[in-house]
Amino acid sequence: MRVLVTGGSGFIGSHVVDQLLAREHEPVILDTTPSPHHPWVTAVVGDLTHPETVLGAARDVGAIIHLAAVADVNDVFADPVRAGAVNVHGTQMVLEAARHENIGRVVYASTVWVYGNAPVEGEIDEDAPLAHPSHVYTATKLAGEMYCNAYRELYGVESTILRFGIPYGPRARPAAVIPSFVARAQQGDALTIAGDGNQTRQFVYVEDLAEGVVLALEQASARRIYNLVGDEETSVRQIADTVRAVVGDVPLVHGPERPADVRLGHISGARAATELGWTASTSFADGVRRYVDWISIADRLAVPATPG
Ligand SMILES: NC(=O)c1ccc[n+]([C@@H]2O[C@H](COP(=O)([O-])OP(=O)(O)OC[C@H]3O[C@@H](n4cnc5c(N)ncnc54)[C@H](O)[C@@H]3O)[C@@H](O)[C@H]2O)c1
Repeated sequence: MRVLVTGGSGFIGSHVVDQLLAREHEPVILDTTPSPHHPWVTAVVGDLTHPETVLGAARDVGAIIHLAAVADVNDVFADPVRAGAVNVHGTQMVLEAARHENIGRVVYASTVWVYGNAPVEGEIDEDAPLAHPSHVYTATKLAGEMYCNAYRELYGVESTILRFGIPYGPRARPAAVIPSFVARAQQGDALTIAGDGNQTRQFVYVEDLAEGVVLALEQASARRIYNLVGDEETSVRQIADTVRAVVGDVPLVHGPERPADVRLGHISGARAATELGWTASTSFADGVRRYVDWISIADRLAVPATPG
C-alpha cells in the first residue's frame, strides 16, 4: 500500500519509513525537511499547515501515518502559537485531505502525556478518564485526538490513535536524556541526576515503536486507541547506571530536585498486545547498547545524527 508519512524525516518517522519498506509498503514522506535517512524515498518537502501541500501529497495514498508535529516541548514552550498551528491546524489539514481523497485510514501519533495527572488509581489503560493538560504540547496532542474523533463521527474518516511512550534509540534528538547521558559518558564527564533520580518513566525502543505504528494500519484497529509503551519502569538513576555499564564508569553527581514533573502512573500496553500482537520486545539495556553502537557507526560514517 502507498502510505503517506507526515514527519517522515524525523526521529520516529524515519523508523516508520524503514518498517514500511521492510513490509513492502510504499512510503511517501511529507516533511518540511528533506530526509537525511531516506533520500531515495518519494517526498513532498512542504508545510503541513498548507492545505494544498497536504492534499497534493495525499493523492493516491491508501493511508496516512501522521507524525509531523512540533514535538520538542522546549520548542513548544518557545513558540506555542506555531505549535498550535502545526499540531492542531496541521492535524486538521491531514484529516481534511483524508476526507477529500477518501483515504481509508489516518494513524495519529499522540502521547502518553495525555494521561498526566489522570484521576486513576493503579494501572492506566486507554479508557482512563483524562485530566485537562497542563502543558501546551499535551493540549495540542489531545486536540489532535479530538479532531480525529470528530472527523470520524461527522465525515466517516477512519482513524487510529496511538499514545506513544517515551521513545529512544538511533536518530534520537541529542538533547534527550539518554543521548545526552551517552554523550557525556563518552567524553568521560560526570552524569548529573536531579534529586534522588527515583522517578520512573516507560521508555520504548524506537524500532519497536515503529513496528507498532505500522501494525496499526491493520483493518481491525480502525476506531481504536492503543498505548505503545515499554512495560519496564526505568528511573533516571537506572538510565545513568545503564549508560555507565555500556559506555564507561563515569562519576554520578546529584543536582537539585527539579520542580514537580507531571505525574504519570503505570501505563498498560495490554490492548496493543492483545489486538495488534505488539509488545516492546527490546529491553532497556539492549536498547541503550544498540543506540551506543549506532552512535559509533554514525560517527565513523558521518551519518547525520538528527534530521535538519
Ligand atoms: N519524541 C517523543 O518523545 C514523542 C513522544 C510521544 C509522541 N510523540 C509524537 O510522535 C511524533 C513524531 O515525533 P518525533 O520525536 O519523531 O519528532 P521529530 O521532531 O523528530 O519529527 C517531527 C517531524 O515533523 C516535521 N515537521 C514539523 N513541522 C512540520 C510542518 N509544519 N510540516 C511538515 N513537517 C513538519 C519535522 O521536520 C520533523 O521531521 C510527533 O507527533 C510527536 O508529538 C513523540
